[in-house]
Amino acid sequence: MSLEFEGKAALVTGAASGIGLAVARRLAHSGAAVVVADYDADGAQLAAGELETAGGRAEPLVMDVTDPDSVRQAVRFTTDTYGSLDLAVNNAGVGGPSLPTGEYDIAAWDRVIATNLSGVFYCLRHELPVMAQAGSGAIVNMSSILGTNGFAGAPAYVAAKHAIVGLTKTAALEYADKGVRVNAVGPGFIDTPLLRETDNPMRDRLISLHPQGRLGTSEEVAELTAFLLSDRASFVQGSYHLVDGAYSAR
Ligand SMILES: NC(=O)c1ccc[n+]([C@@H]2O[C@H](COP(=O)([O-])OP(=O)(O)OC[C@H]3O[C@@H](n4cnc5c(N)ncnc54)[C@H](O)[C@@H]3O)[C@@H](O)[C@H]2O)c1
Repeated sequence: MSLEFEGKAALVTGAASGIGLAVARRLAHSGAAVVVADYDADGAQLAAGELETAGGRAEPLVMDVTDPDSVRQAVRFTTDTYGSLDLAVNNAGVGGPSLPTGEYDIAAWDRVIATNLSGVFYCLRHELPVMAQAGSGAIVNMSSILGTNGFAGAPAYVAAKHAIVGLTKTAALEYADKGVRVNAVGPGFIDTPLLRETDNPMRDRLISLHPQGRLGTSEEVAELTAFLLSDRASFVQGSYHLVDGAYSAR
């Protein structure tokens, strides 16, 4: 029996933890060779080791999505190591402090935008030409429910996640006729290390915002991401897909 992603090479950023790690596991489990890219060197090493122990193909890569040259090298590493770049998940992201816009720390704004927005652009900038040259490829950009909703206290995060949706649509329009699909995923609040920084009252409040009465899991986000990357989603192009327990349905 052939696996869905057999023979495909994937680059997943932020793959040492949370959603990125679940995506890397899901892709490797279905036969993809995965570059586990993260600026956490130990985490990337551990994650890639875990995927290989489970019978998958994986290589750790230390990279920083805020550095365009590091992103260029990550794309090059993928094609040098596995011979192609077929799947990309531009997922690395950070939270930032919780402060109203009128008090938001300028350095924090710069850091969140550099990672969550410019990081995704740098990835697209280097992934798209390689995929277009090959005539095929599929990309998922990790946005959030905050790609369409505001959230008090998170101006930089919300601005970046909204921008990812626009960037996704634009790249999809530009590359649709070159065999490359680009889509965005909008998870609700997901139980990952990013969220574990929040205190218990905040966590309870976040849970209460989801009509399903719980946070999502990284595996639930990985499942939608894998679908969008697969040939089963061959006509899904330039769109933004929620996985949010009805958070946005209100
Ligand atoms: N957890 C949630 O509730 C939630 C909801 C919606 C969207 N998201 C998005 O999903 C993505 C993953 O979030 P998560 O919850 O799994 O977080 P996480 O903190 O568990 O994982 C993020 C990973 O990204 C890496 N990373 C951060 N900055 C980097 C950089 N500059 N270069 C390379 N790697 C970097 C970190 O080392 C970490 O391994 C983010 O884009 C986040 O905004 C998360």
